[in-house]
Amino acid sequence: MSNAICEALDIRYPIILGGLSRIGRAPLVAAVSNAGGLGLLGAGSWTAEEFREQIRETRNLTDRVFGANIPGHAEAADELVETAIAERLRVMSTSAGSPRRFTARLKEAGVYVIHVVSTVAHAMTAEKAGVDAIVAEGSESGGMTSMEQVSTLVLVPQVAEAVGCPVIAAGGIADARGLAASFALGAVGVQLGTVLMATKECEVSPAFKEMMVRARETDTYLDPRGRAASRIFKEDFTKTALQDLKETSSPTVPDLDLVQTGVGQATGMIREVRTVAEVIGSMVSQAREILPGLIMNLPLGDAE
Ligand SMILES: Cc1cc2nc3c(=O)[nH]c(=O)nc-3n(C[C@H](O)[C@H](O)[C@H](O)COP(=O)(O)O)c2cc1C
Repeated sequence: MSNAICEALDIRYPIILGGLSRIGRAPLVAAVSNAGGLGLLGAGSWTAEEFREQIRETRNLTDRVFGANIPGHAEAADELVETAIAERLRVMSTSAGSPRRFTARLKEAGVYVIHVVSTVAHAMTAEKAGVDAIVAEGSESGGMTSMEQVSTLVLVPQVAEAVGCPVIAAGGIADARGLAASFALGAVGVQLGTVLMATKECEVSPAFKEMMVRARETDTYLDPRGRAASRIFKEDFTKTALQDLKETSSPTVPDLDLVQTGVGQATGMIREVRTVAEVIGSMVSQAREILPGLIMNLPLGDAE
């Protein structure tokens, strides 16, 4: 499996760990890059110093390419961008704000820039701003998203039609079927969040991972926060799950912070906590099996 994104970024598979503020730290990022994907550090809530430490720690854990995401609303956004350049990160993702703010500076420093959008109009603005690739993120996704609520199935083909640069699909992708579907929609790769949080290498608490395994596709909602919204677990689900976890032999007592941690609808597809290599490996190998078979679902008829 190789394509425009793999060649440009020197990665084996077109599978990206999206920026996960507070969660996308060195062990998870390195595990994704070591498994052949592209890990992005979730730099949103860090100071420049914390970011530098995480970059160095990631370099101790992998010699593969990795990058970072800086959302426009990050308090230290400007400093974080300068840190990424000083530390010679080759690829950066920007989100939640105008792509014009950082693209020229990053490109001038030779960085490959990926920008995350949730509407076709924003994709067109990002392309004009000169980004190298666009992540089209549907409203199924975990974490902060647009209140417009356009689903991945509707957003990705329209973004792919509207722009000339490579498009990466995000939101609700958790297995080989999602990867295969993304190619059919016109994407050259996928960005994952939720499914990679339910892995052994992710540092969210075991209780949160257990909640992800238990949750159904209907157990999240979009919590509005001004012009943006954040997809998190519903209160009812959280209460019941926490009660159950307290009564069973949960390895850690869940803390209230869990309630506010972003999680996508794809949580309904998670059956167990696996390693990052298992998630990415099965995604790639099963996609290779199912893609050639899909044509069988289209009977030949009069249209021939
Ligand atoms: C807990 C959490 C935090 C996130 N933080 C960020 C962030 O700081 N910046 C960003 O661009 N996207 C963020 N995202 C979105 C992810 O990068 C990714 O695009 C999204 O999770 C993909 O959808 P999925 O969750 O359905 O896989 C976050 C998602 C989650 C679940």
